[in-house]
Amino acid sequence: MKSDDRRRMYGLGNRLWHTDASFQDPPGRYSMLSARIVPPVGAETEFADMRAAYDALSAEMKAQLEGLRVHHSIAHSRQTLGFEFSKDEQEILKGAIHPLIRTIPRSQRRSLYIASHASRIIDWPVPEGRLLLRDLTEHATQPEFVYRHSWRVGDLVIWDNRATMHRARSFDDATYRRELRRVTTLDIEPPALVASGS
Ligand SMILES: [Fe+2]
Repeated sequence: MKSDDRRRMYGLGNRLWHTDASFQDPPGRYSMLSARIVPPVGAETEFADMRAAYDALSAEMKAQLEGLRVHHSIAHSRQTLGFEFSKDEQEILKGAIHPLIRTIPRSQRRSLYIASHASRIIDWPVPEGRLLLRDLTEHATQPEFVYRHSWRVGDLVIWDNRATMHRARSFDDATYRRELRRVTTLDIEPPALVASGS
């Protein structure tokens, strides 16, 4: 793509810390990336462990976050990079609301659920909500919570969007090709098994 191609510009949003499809309901659960063509330098993907980040919060902060809900919108994350949306586009991209703290069912561990798409905290003044979300993102992306994956051809990486944030790192895409193929599953519970009787 040309450097000013709108699709390329839009894809730059992947360089912000995010969790896949949090602006939808249901959002993404597992994402898988398969590396086919990898540039010789850069282009890593970083992952932040949102369970460890939650565990490291103070008891006071955990209590403050309890029960809060967050509005997520892709229009918001793209606006932070300078994209503009018409009223109609904003209506189509109206986003989704999710709890700020999630409990991962099997492990019962708690996890911060935030992302660049997180636009505001429901029932809070917008600036205060955004400042809290920014503080939490800074906290959660400290080096001790982050794993950086350097891609090799043939790698397949699978992650749980409920318990992580991730971001793409930059590389010289005017010189090198990069081809990673992605699948993301929806965060829905499997249908309950119905006992069949006669
Ligand atoms: Fe992503």
